[in-house]
Amino acid sequence: MSCIQNPEALEPGNLPPKLRDRDKAKSVLNREFGSDLSSNSNVLISGPRGTGKTHIVQKVLEATPSTESATCYVSCRSSNTQYKALAQILSVLTNEDVSTGHHISSLQRRIRERVEALPLLVVLDDVEFLMRNDGSDLLYYLSRIPGNLRLLLTSTTPSVMKQADDRVVSSLQPHRLELESYSENQAFSILAERAEQALDSHSLQRDALQKIGETTQNISIGLYWLQVAGERRDTITSAVIEDVKHAAFRRYLDHLLSYFSTHHQLVVQAVMELLSESSGPVTTGEVYSRYEDLSEVYSESSVGHRSISDVLSELELLRILDCTYHYGGRHGKTREIELADPFNDSGYETQVA
Ligand SMILES: Nc1ncnc2c1ncn2[C@@H]1O[C@H](COP(=O)(O)OP(=O)(O)OP(=O)(O)O)[C@@H](O)[C@H]1O
Ligand SMILES: [Mg+2]
Repeated sequence: MSCIQNPEALEPGNLPPKLRDRDKAKSVLNREFGSDLSSNSNVLISGPRGTGKTHIVQKVLEATPSTESATCYVSCRSSNTQYKALAQILSVLTNEDVSTGHHISSLQRRIRERVEALPLLVVLDDVEFLMRNDGSDLLYYLSRIPGNLRLLLTSTTPSVMKQADDRVVSSLQPHRLELESYSENQAFSILAERAEQALDSHSLQRDALQKIGETTQNISIGLYWLQVAGERRDTITSAVIEDVKHAAFRRYLDHLLSYFSTHHQLVVQAVMELLSESSGPVTTGEVYSRYEDLSEVYSESSVGHRSISDVLSELELLRILDCTYHYGGRHGKTREIELADPFNDSGYETQVA
């Protein structure tokens, strides 16, 4: 039934050797990080989801000669505090497990000593998750290490540095590189190349791939869509693409949530359930009480309002939820919650994975 020969080629985390298009990004990064190191600036790459930010930073890391510079990749989805990010950087530099039980100042001192010996390139991928917490302090510290340390940041929003103090911005002065969403044709071509490596020949119809490219320019979603369709059928037509749409979006959603806690999964389930019962947006209070019910059903211990408010903000950053804020009134700030496109459609199973 399946037409997938090489499933690896459809995994978003499995990068193809060649980055298509993105000529401006390539030339900026070549200039900033190529062998001819004429500048020493920091770079912030911003762009919507699935536009190749992580792909690009991985390629920069691969191309950096280990004799010239140590490199360290930090995913700020999981390393979302100064402590966690410093511990991750030091673990990579020393090959030791430094996850818990240290003072921030001792982690900072040890990193500084290393950087004095060998230049360091640190990637902070999805830095917005860190900026919600004490990311500004971390950036300030890193930007003040004399010479030798360069930062490559990525974010879905170009304005992420607004959350940093002025002293951080003036000390970092990142060179900004904004990636635009792919056009339908570009998304088509990128996905066609992956499909060619992954699927039986002639199993994917052109209009099926066009339908994906018209619906989403987020390449990760497109890859999950091809995965689900290819697993279920030996020929992928546009009707098949339509049939498996919800399953494909669900797989993308599960992938995004896999970096986060069970509370995040339960909150998404709570929002989905509430929205399927009523047409309008739901409030934080309603979500919290449904989340508590679900925690009981799944024998999970629930966390308080404040933590769930953080969870909601992270789900908003992930572009899973869309929230509208209202200020004033008896409760101060209130939040109306909806599912973001592409999830705000009926037809999802709301079961926790
Ligand atoms: N220009 C491109 N050429 C080839 N493949 C690409 C290109 N852009 C993106 N991809 C592929 O699309 C997938 C998603 O890219 P990536 O994960 O880098 O996006 P992202 O911007 O980091 O998304 P997110 O914001 O969700 O983290 C990856 O498998 C990547 O290899
Ligand atoms: Mg990414």
